[in-house]
Formats: sequence, structure tokens, C-alpha cells
Amino acid sequence: MEKKRVAIIGGGQIAEKVHASYYRKREELEIAAVVSPSADRARSFAERNGISHYYTDAAEMFTAVNPDIVSVCTPNKFHFKYVMQALEAGCHVLCEKPPAISADEARKMQEEAIQNKRVLAYNFHHRFADDVQILREKVAEGILGDVYAVKASALRRSGVPGWGNFTDKTLQGGGPLIDIGVHMLDAALYVLGFPKIEKVTAKMFQKIGTKKSEGSFGEWDPNKFEVEDSLFGFIELEGGRLLQLETSFALNMKETSIMNVEFYGDQAGATLLPAHIYTDEKGGLVTLLKQEKADPDRQEKGMAAFIDKCLGEDVMLADGKQGYIIQQLVEALYQSAEKGESVSL
Ligand SMILES: NC(=O)c1ccc[n+]([C@@H]2O[C@H](COP(=O)([O-])OP(=O)(O)OC[C@H]3O[C@@H](n4cnc5c(N)ncnc54)[C@H](O)[C@@H]3O)[C@@H](O)[C@H]2O)c1
Repeated sequence: MEKKRVAIIGGGQIAEKVHASYYRKREELEIAAVVSPSADRARSFAERNGISHYYTDAAEMFTAVNPDIVSVCTPNKFHFKYVMQALEAGCHVLCEKPPAISADEARKMQEEAIQNKRVLAYNFHHRFADDVQILREKVAEGILGDVYAVKASALRRSGVPGWGNFTDKTLQGGGPLIDIGVHMLDAALYVLGFPKIEKVTAKMFQKIGTKKSEGSFGEWDPNKFEVEDSLFGFIELEGGRLLQLETSFALNMKETSIMNVEFYGDQAGATLLPAHIYTDEKGGLVTLLKQEKADPDRQEKGMAAFIDKCLGEDVMLADGKQGYIIQQLVEALYQSAEKGESVSL
């Protein structure tokens, strides 16, 4: 079988650690090109990862290489442009999270994928953890009963990224909500089966990132810290259910970091990572399920699902439609926080 040709746009840390390292393992694939604005960085990325061609211009790459599959791993602002270019060129696309900067962009990306009959997936890898798969089944089976409240946490105590563009609002679209909060929002909605979102209310803060300049994740310029450092949201779901979100790059809390979702049902409760289901019976506390540690292979499983889908298998993906829903939610949370009022969807 002729190998599928893969191109990676944006040769940074996630492109190397996750995308290139996975593609190199699949014998059906050949990484044919990498694109990055700096020729030096593109060349060294290509050399380190055994890629024969590097480009500084994506349009040139599409014409010369004619790839089958594209990974978009750039700062968020450029996701839309490159995903659209790749879909128009007839490629299947795996785009890093978040899908885009705005809901309008995410909608157009979804429409373009449908129109061109191509796979469009987003790298929301937490949903590929065994824990999330197990919990989704248990919730669907009714083990938790009526899940009336959920708390999604994507919190870092001292984790303003000291690399990349994560404090630049123009390039990223926001701070912890659009960067790490989206992961837990996707995981929570996936377990619940993507119920309709009715209304959101949020409040965000910029209390630490503009004052400090270093933390556990490196150094940053407080004068260029343009994003929220924490955001708290209430998301009202159909059926009167509540999804609460708390997310931060910097927050004076006890733990170093929390990436988890708690589900509160009238029969039992659960945490997601690792999967743990608990209840009480006759006054005693009961554990119904307990995974010892969260599945460490979720990134690899997410990558595998995307490639399997490109090769024609019928597998689950974080697809264009769900990406659009997540982006709408992110946009509504930011709008609510900016306006100081609830936003209906
Ligand atoms: N799925 C995850 O868990 C996860 C983790 C980290 C990052 N990400 C996402 O991956 C993306 C990149 O993050 P990163 O941590 O790798 O950042 P990074 O700064 O390490 O890499 C970004 C790369 O994009 C390149 N780039 C910048 N502008 C470009 C342009 N116009 N065209 C082409 N390339 C361009 C940069 O040169 C750099 O090599 C972001 O969207 C981020 O949200 C996802």
C-alpha cells in the first residue's frame, strides 16, 4: 500500500512530542513536510524527526507536497486559516485544541469538512482515556442515577506558561479557559453525551499574571500578560442540570494542579481521572469502581483514532460538530465574563 503523506503545520512542542512521534510509529504513514515561519526552526524540526522537506509557507507546501493528512499545531489564531487551506486541498485534518478563536470560525471549519467529505478532528485527548470511556458507559447505564450537577476543574496554582504565546490574547484568544479549561469541558460534555447548553454565566480575573513574572512553568513578561489568569463559570444544561467550571493559570490554591471532572448523581458520584464511583449504603461509604491511576495513553489513543478514521475505520473522534459546540461555549463564557451578564445559547 502506498503510504499516506502527512504534513505538520507549526513545528513546536506539541507537534514534536505528540504528532510527529506518533506518525513516525505508523508504517502506513510518511511525514512528508513540516511548515514553520522560521526556516531554521523548520529545518531543525525536520532533521530531528526524519522529515524530508520543510517550508516556511504553507501554500507552497500544499502545492509541492500534496499531502493526504495535515496536523495543525500552530498558535490558536492560525488554526482557522490552516484548517481551511488543508480541507480545501482535500486533506484530512487533525487540529490542535481549541478548534479556533471564535465560534464562527469553528462553524465554517465544520461546514468545510462536511462539504469536502474529509475528516476533521480536534485533539481533545482526555476523552480517549479508558477512565472517560468507562465513566461514559456507567453514566449511560444509569449507575449514577440522575446526574444533576458536574464540576469541571482545570486549575494550575502557579502555571502561567513561560513558553509559546499563551499570554497573548490576539494569538491565543484567551487564557486558561481556551487553553486548558476546554479539555475538561470537552471531557465533561462527552461523558454526559453532549446535552444542549442553555445559558452560561462567568466571571474572570487578572490578579496574578500582571504582577508576577515567574512561576512553576517558567518566566513571562507581566506587561504582556493580556489574558485572564482565572475564570469561574456556571453552565446551565437542558433538564435543569448544572456544569460548573473553574480554570486557572495562577490561583492561590492548596494543590499544585487539578485536571478532573466530578459528577454528582442522585444514586452515586464519580470523578473522572482516575475513574472512581462512590455512594453510601445503610450509613456506610461504598466504592463502586476505582481505577488506580488515570490512563496515561490517552494522547496516543486519540492520535490512533484519527489515523484509523482517515484510513476508513468507523471510530469515535472529537469531530467538527462537537468542536463547534465547545467553541460556542468558550465564546459564551468569555462574553458573559466581559459583559457581566448571563448569555443564552
Ligand atoms: N492537546 C494538548 O494537550 C495541547 C498541549 C499543548 C499545546 N496544544 C495546542 O497546540 C498548539 C501549539 O502549542 P505549542 O505548545 O506546541 O506551542 P509552541 O509555541 O511550542 O509551537 C507553536 C509553533 O507554531 C509555529 N507558528 C507560529 N506561527 C505560525 C504560523 N503563522 N504558521 C505556521 N507555524 C506557526 C511556531 O513557530 C511554533 O513552532 C496550540 O493551539 C495549543 O493550544 C495542545
